[in-house]
Amino acid sequence: MGIPQPAFYIFKCEQSAPPGMPKPSCVTPQTQDLFQYLAQAIMKQGIMGTVQPIRTSCMNRCSSGPIMLVEPGHTMYAGLTKEKIDRIIDEHIIGGNVVEEFVIAQEMWDAAISPAAMKKQMGM
Ligand code: FES
Repeated sequence: MGIPQPAFYIFKCEQSAPPGMPKPSCVTPQTQDLFQYLAQAIMKQGIMGTVQPIRTSCMNRCSSGPIMLVEPGHTMYAGLTKEKIDRIIDEHIIGGNVVEEFVIAQEMWDAAISPAAMKKQMGM
């Protein structure tokens, strides 16, 4: 038997805009401990390894931050707090049901364009 794949990857945006930059940021002094909180919550549940938290750079949805992306499923959660992370782990990651009320607004996260379709659009 081989090494099992993770069941889920959770990508947590860890970009902080430098002071004075107009761009909003997912990581502020108030939210900078959310990745650590996520990792600890996964550990406390005993599911680390089959659930893999990953720090990422900006995922281009800063204005809805703090955000995190759950794969598989392309589920983007917005406006994160510690309480929301707890519910996402309980209800989505363990329970199997997306927490719809925390999902990013559809206009911010519309259906993907396939790479083949994009190449065509670009005339390539
Ligand atoms: S800094 Fe998180 S989406 Fe840009």
